[in-house]
Amino acid sequence: MAVRTIEWRKDCVRIIDQTRLPEESVYRELHTVEEMAEAIETLRVRGAPAIGIAAAMGVALAARLHRKSPPELFNRAVDDAMERLKKTRPTAVNLFGALERMRGCLHGVSMKPGEAADTLLREALAIYEEDEIVCRRMGENGAELLGPDSIVLTHCNAGGLATAGYGTALGVIYAAHEAGRIRHVYADETRPLLQGSRLTAWELSRSGIPVTVICDSAAASVMHGRRVDAVLVGADRIAANGDTANKIGTYSLAVLARYHGIPFYVVAPVSTVDMRLSSGESIPIEERSADEVIQGFGRLTAPNGAGVLNPAFDVTPHTLISAIVTEAGVLRPPFEENLYRLMGGNRPPETFE
Ligand code: MRU
Repeated sequence: MAVRTIEWRKDCVRIIDQTRLPEESVYRELHTVEEMAEAIETLRVRGAPAIGIAAAMGVALAARLHRKSPPELFNRAVDDAMERLKKTRPTAVNLFGALERMRGCLHGVSMKPGEAADTLLREALAIYEEDEIVCRRMGENGAELLGPDSIVLTHCNAGGLATAGYGTALGVIYAAHEAGRIRHVYADETRPLLQGSRLTAWELSRSGIPVTVICDSAAASVMHGRRVDAVLVGADRIAANGDTANKIGTYSLAVLARYHGIPFYVVAPVSTVDMRLSSGESIPIEERSADEVIQGFGRLTAPNGAGVLNPAFDVTPHTLISAIVTEAGVLRPPFEENLYRLMGGNRPPETFE
């Protein structure tokens, strides 16, 4: 029962508004690049692969609106759309990769605006369709890592809501469940925006997979006092040495998993690997508003004047990661060597971002 998190309609993009889940399933139609940028910034659409698809569709929207404009105006509208979308969220590399693909599909060919708008739309839809297939492959590859009757723990939401398919980390859980290998899932609540309890628990329960929500701070005692066979998380950006940026709290989970001898798996498409960055030190980490921490759900939960720090992501050192599951296979340490081999030794050009 995969959710259609984003889809191209005749003259707009339709998303499920993830800020309203799980209370309400509200769909929104986005007609302009500004509406798309707002949806990405406010996390109405979120999760690394979905952000990439949303950005690509945002460019296609801008192009569509200007398809009858003179070439100069059309080109400016497309450039402005890309610049606006680049500024929405800094951490997930999928966003920049998707925009680069959109630019690349127009490169070196001269087309009339109408034809260029069609080409951009085709590219955005290709990014969407590829993600669906890639999710399936990651699911199959990752399910092999889990034994029968597994109990797993996950953080944030790396499911259908975050992709065009059935997810990355949750994709593995769905595939393993289909193969009869999942007994139970613990979903970290994932403060401050509760993607784990609001979104992951919603997705898993509607798919009939047994799920228990825990506070992030309960993970240690669950690992100690109960059975957890594996931790599975998604990723927003993986550096060339395997250091991985994912939702804040992932790093502490990896430390806990190591202490308790539990395998810690990162599940992400190859498009999340950023070979330009040699380590996680240079991954840009988004800082979000203090309000999300101290009055996220309608009540002030800290005294006025208290300082607040709200990094949206952290970086898990590669030494704490047991394996990285991609659509191309399961990578084990040494990650630097194995990622370099997987990416064909290619370092994308410096113009990437
Ligand atoms: O801030 P969010 O909700 O966009 O953060 C999402 C995550 O951290 C996910 O784990 C990651 O993007 C992988 S999604 C397949």
